[in-house]
Amino acid sequence: MSNPAHGNVLEMIGNTPLMAARRLDAGPCQLFLKLENQNPGGSIKDRVGLYLIEAAERAGSLKPGGTLIEATAGNTGLGLALVAAQKGYRLLLVIPDKMSQEKIFHLKAMGAEVMMTRSDVSKGHPEYYRDVAERLAREIPGSCFVNQFGNPANALAHEETTAPEIWEQMGHELHAVVCGAGTGGTLAGLTHFFARVAPHVQLVLADPVGSGLASFATTGKLPAKMTSWMVEGIGGDSVPPVADFSRVGSAYSIPDAEAFRACRELLAREGIIAGTSTGTLLAAALRYCREQQRPRRVVTFVCDSGNKYLSKVYNDYWMLDQGFL
Ligand SMILES: Cc1ncc(COP(=O)(O)O)c(C=O)c1O
Repeated sequence: MSNPAHGNVLEMIGNTPLMAARRLDAGPCQLFLKLENQNPGGSIKDRVGLYLIEAAERAGSLKPGGTLIEATAGNTGLGLALVAAQKGYRLLLVIPDKMSQEKIFHLKAMGAEVMMTRSDVSKGHPEYYRDVAERLAREIPGSCFVNQFGNPANALAHEETTAPEIWEQMGHELHAVVCGAGTGGTLAGLTHFFARVAPHVQLVLADPVGSGLASFATTGKLPAKMTSWMVEGIGGDSVPPVADFSRVGSAYSIPDAEAFRACRELLAREGIIAGTSTGTLLAAALRYCREQQRPRRVVTFVCDSGNKYLSKVYNDYWMLDQGFL
């Protein structure tokens, strides 16, 4: 048996399993799930945490014992916290005050320092969370602003790890990958890898209704009107600098209700408890698969675990209250 022990938790980031979703109705296609929830910090963002920190080390902007600053309450915060703690860096996260207590407790438990700012202000306001993070990085000596939305190491993590893993696990027989865009790092990494290695592979964007990114991907323009959505981690009302929509062949706008029901269907049929953005990706992947005329091999992601969302999508009363059931 050749399954040696890992030397540390960071070695367990990436190389996630790929699973055929045979109990879901994918029309003439075969649908596969890349289980990013099995990263040690629980999401696809562990890869990004590692790449962002190691890029800063190489660039010399992060010195031993230095401070990392980022604006996020999401999975990137957890990924950064995991890596920062292992490597002995201080991590300061600036977080809008609408974030759930669970998320804040989780980040603090992982060793991050959390600074709360207002969530009712937007870009340009001095208390806007991303602007606060940038300002702190200028003020705190020896600190380094991580900037996942603009940092090329974010996309590189996926170009060098996520995309080649999928390509190998699919035995080089792959027609399409369905993914979402938050920072756009995953999409950009897939775009760069497949443009080089297998340009026939189609990239399909899964976007929440209300976000402008599906429209941007297909028309090059953001819609005049955008609204809010409930799935977490994907969608946007502006185009992040790190994103690359140039190879998106089709895009689906998925209503929250459909996404949340897809999460529950995934758990009921395949036994995978996934976060809400996975519902958007899965719903888009199923629509894409069912529209195909020929058998296609399609991959999408389980981006994070659903145990952070138990009181919402996996709670019947909450789903009924929202009108989703
Ligand atoms: C929870 C979560 N965060 C973020 C993303 C998007 O990643 P990126 O920031 O690379 O666009 C996803 C899914 O793709 C996600 O599920």
